[in-house]
Amino acid sequence: MAEWVEACAVDDVDKEDVIRFDHGGRSFAIYRSPDDDFFATDGFCTHEMAHLADGLVMDDIIECPKHNGRFNYKTGEAKGAPVCVNLKTYPVRVEAGKVMIDIG
Ligand code: FES
Repeated sequence: MAEWVEACAVDDVDKEDVIRFDHGGRSFAIYRSPDDDFFATDGFCTHEMAHLADGLVMDDIIECPKHNGRFNYKTGEAKGAPVCVNLKTYPVRVEAGKVMIDIG
């Protein structure tokens, strides 16, 4: 079931960057792509406990800060060792300057 929550304001995320959003004991990463779209994934890397908001965004890739594992943050696809488990992604919509994500 859909459960839309407000993650942040559009202006809180720079282009080609990522921020952390915590809600209800869960942690998410909110991305703004170079071409100005918003995306959301689980916050923690699927390899070990590292938060992806501390990582580096390059085009449509997020690079984990801990062992440099890479994911496509638009699809969640793991892009090679040491990450082999895909990242969960969440639907995003922008409404009146707010970034909403469906965590349901
Ligand atoms: S914790 Fe992310 S690559 Fe190891």
